[in-house]
Amino acid sequence: MDWSLTAEGITKRFHGVRALDKAGFHLGPEEIHCLVGENGAGKSTLGKIIMGIHQPDEGEIVVGGNTYQALNPHLARQIGIAMVAQELNLMPDLSIAENIFLFDDSCYLGNIFYKRKDLYRKAQEIIEHMGLRNFPAVSTKIRNLTVAQQQIVEIVKAISGQNKILIFDEPTTAISIKEVEHLFQIIRTLKAQGVSIVLVTHRFDEIFAIGDYVTVLCDGKTVRERIPLEELDKQKLVQLMVGRDIGEFYGTRQRIETGDEILRVENLSAADGKFSNISFTVRKGEVLGMAGLVGAGRSEIVETLFGIRRKKTGGIWLKGRPVNNRSIQNVVKQGVVFVPDDRKLKGLFTQLGLSFNIAITQMELSGKFFNSEKKYEKTSENLLKKLNLKFASLNQPVASLSGGNQQKVLLSKWLALKTEVIIFDEPTRGIDVGTKVEIYELIRELARNGKAVIVVSSEMQEVISLTDRLLVINEGRIVAELKSDGTTEHEILSYAIPGKESAYGNENND
Ligand SMILES: Nc1ncnc2c1ncn2[C@@H]1O[C@H](COP(=O)(O)OP(=O)(O)OP(=O)(O)O)[C@@H](O)[C@H]1O
Ligand SMILES: [Mg+2]
Repeated sequence: MDWSLTAEGITKRFHGVRALDKAGFHLGPEEIHCLVGENGAGKSTLGKIIMGIHQPDEGEIVVGGNTYQALNPHLARQIGIAMVAQELNLMPDLSIAENIFLFDDSCYLGNIFYKRKDLYRKAQEIIEHMGLRNFPAVSTKIRNLTVAQQQIVEIVKAISGQNKILIFDEPTTAISIKEVEHLFQIIRTLKAQGVSIVLVTHRFDEIFAIGDYVTVLCDGKTVRERIPLEELDKQKLVQLMVGRDIGEFYGTRQRIETGDEILRVENLSAADGKFSNISFTVRKGEVLGMAGLVGAGRSEIVETLFGIRRKKTGGIWLKGRPVNNRSIQNVVKQGVVFVPDDRKLKGLFTQLGLSFNIAITQMELSGKFFNSEKKYEKTSENLLKKLNLKFASLNQPVASLSGGNQQKVLLSKWLALKTEVIIFDEPTRGIDVGTKVEIYELIRELARNGKAVIVVSSEMQEVISLTDRLLVINEGRIVAELKSDGTTEHEILSYAIPGKESAYGNENND
């Protein structure tokens, strides 16, 4: 077979830590090849080596009959490779259009973009071709976009060129199911045109929906290569990835008697109009879910509860006492914590160490910084171990961890605090299947210990099986309240999908 690309014997060390250990795989033409493995297995590193962002210590890459000891991004683009990276890498002060064509030499005259009108028109065409209605104007600066919209721009940027090999590293973590569908249609079309696609994802439904072959990485090694998906089912794939059966994946939640009302929200409306008239309560020991599409306003609601966004009207009460949510610190002191969905923007100092990141909130709350980090080390270590995080030292920078492992540090940071209410926004985004189960158990344990828990999640099965009660949010309003027992994905979607507009709801278009 004429391979589109082969990577063989790839070894890569970061400061002595081996991220890849003689890993490799064969990529054929017209195929969608899924790279899977636990957090930290080496998937992103392998992708980055193919894209020339990292250079391997050993091994070689063969593309189009040429053998390369190492690539660089310029060369990789020249030979037709593009990648949608796990962490978004857009230029915040450039427009959508400029970002899309950033590497397209035909768009430059010297160092400046030229023919801006052509550029905008071309970008607009591509976005429309993706079936995106209501997307912000292509002249909008990246910094004014939501994370979901930025992820779409990354995707558009990769597919807009005439590439032969496309690497998608968890491309769907922020976008809604409608856009995932569009993306998959486009990927299928590209495949039919002869493009080879590498897809890294932790979402099994995606692998089975679109994949042709699976290669499994474990601790930097290729453990199985090019298994046709017809030969696999979910159970087998889990077994291959985790090395053990994890039984009933979502588990069954033992319903416990819920106690007194802890949190009450009445008639909450956002200052910027993203949601209105939100009222609900959460009881002691209860897990309340917020389901809906990405962009429906769920994150905005919980961020407002936590004091990150401003409200226009409405009130929040904790055990009958009004909550002052003018600052995040205030809210935490009153007993509400929030685990946000976007680790890069809202959660972590990625250049600083693990234990610092976990301890910082506790230090802020106590007002004591001198030598405090040490005091919290034991808690940090325990939490990280509970979440299966393998780390070299508590002082290693968060940036040196894989994407999913950074998410675990973010979780630990908030779990270390003592609270009455804990709110999770997409708690398992980018987390591998083995660890997901641990996180579900952890959330259940919080409820058993009498906390009131709110979970925002776009993964339908997750939000159904984890929660007692569900609010479905559609375009900034509560459109249904369902008992989680007995509801279905289908039922939730029937409420969650907006009638006419795209999933962006009432997003600003400026
Ligand atoms: N820039 C870096 N510096 C130091 N270590 C790194 C760096 N990038 C990755 N690593 C290490 O390499 C290993 C593999 O990481 P990688 O990001 O490839 O994992 P992954 O399979 O993509 O995981 P995830 O599913 O969490 O995204 C991890 O142990 C990680 O800590
Ligand atoms: Mg990764």
